[in-house]
Amino acid sequence: MAAPRTFVVLGTGHWAEHCHGRALADHPDVELAGFWGRDHGRAQAVASRVGGRGFATVEEALEAADAVAIALPPHVQAPLAARAARAGRHLLVDKPLALDLRAADDVVAATRESGVASVVYMTYLFQPDITSWLARMSALADQQGPWEGALARWGGTIDVPGSPYAASAWRREWGGLWDCGPHALSIVLSLLPPVERVTAARGVRDAVNVALEHRGGAGSALSLTLTAPEGAGGSFASVWGPAGRHDLPRFSGTPQEGFARAVDQLRGAAEEGRPHPLDAAYARDVVAVLAAAQLHLDRPAAERSTPVG
Ligand SMILES: NC(=O)c1ccc[n+]([C@@H]2O[C@H](COP(=O)([O-])OP(=O)(O)OC[C@H]3O[C@@H](n4cnc5c(N)ncnc54)[C@H](OP(=O)(O)O)[C@@H]3O)[C@@H](O)[C@H]2O)c1
Repeated sequence: MAAPRTFVVLGTGHWAEHCHGRALADHPDVELAGFWGRDHGRAQAVASRVGGRGFATVEEALEAADAVAIALPPHVQAPLAARAARAGRHLLVDKPLALDLRAADDVVAATRESGVASVVYMTYLFQPDITSWLARMSALADQQGPWEGALARWGGTIDVPGSPYAASAWRREWGGLWDCGPHALSIVLSLLPPVERVTAARGVRDAVNVALEHRGGAGSALSLTLTAPEGAGGSFASVWGPAGRHDLPRFSGTPQEGFARAVDQLRGAAEEGRPHPLDAAYARDVVAVLAAAQLHLDRPAAERSTPVG
């Protein structure tokens, strides 16, 4: 299959404009056809600032492109991604792929039926500072024995003045588990085997603490919120095992540079006809962990925890 050349962005919000749109407009090897959003005027306005045109319908947008880049709430993204894949468009989706497993499974089925390539934009995994650290961690584990555990704290601060995500309805409803959880899992799943079982507990506001049991016995813990007070946000992660304890470094690149790498890798996967390691099936497995944690949290407290006497 030829590498996709023309991209359309589905979404007109902050991330659609400033990450997906800008990265595609600046990319030397692809063309930005424009934007679709449920508000046509907004799609036209974003296109006039970034590039391409504003499409009135999803059909028109799909007609104009070889690939879609989706920056929409996850429950809106998943059915549109499945539809785009079935129309033969390659997929550059954002995290999380969906808010339920059935919708995520359908995206995977659509990519398999049509043979299109897919990549999920896991921000950290497209930054060289992070990928070279992960490669070093993998070599250390090969030499000295597998990692035994990991801890990841991800704190967003959407209530801090000026946050572009303050009005994001899906974040308010679904919280840090679904918004920050994919980032934390992108690191933990790069270091430890697949997750087999989860338990979870609630904290203040949307905060949740998730305990993960990985195949083979390793364990990890995630502490997630998107409403951390000012000064209490940010992320950190550590991994430990026979090769000692190691902390995740910061990355120095921009999200737009990472997105451009995701575009390159989607194009490579389409051209070579091979699944990308971070394809829709990977994104589906991330949703499976989050959905299991959500299921646990949705149980009455008496059923999911033991009272302290
Ligand atoms: N990888 C990263 O680091 C990163 C960072 C930021 C965001 N993201 C991801 O990008 C995606 C979008 O995030 P966001 O912050 O832009 O989300 P958002 O602010 O909640 O929503 C963005 C867009 O979704 C549209 N929208 C909402 N409900 C819709 C519906 N029912 N039908 C059609 N359009 C609808 C909004 O349209 P209106 O303008 O008409 O309201 C807006 O254009 C999410 O998956 C998020 O996780 C990823």
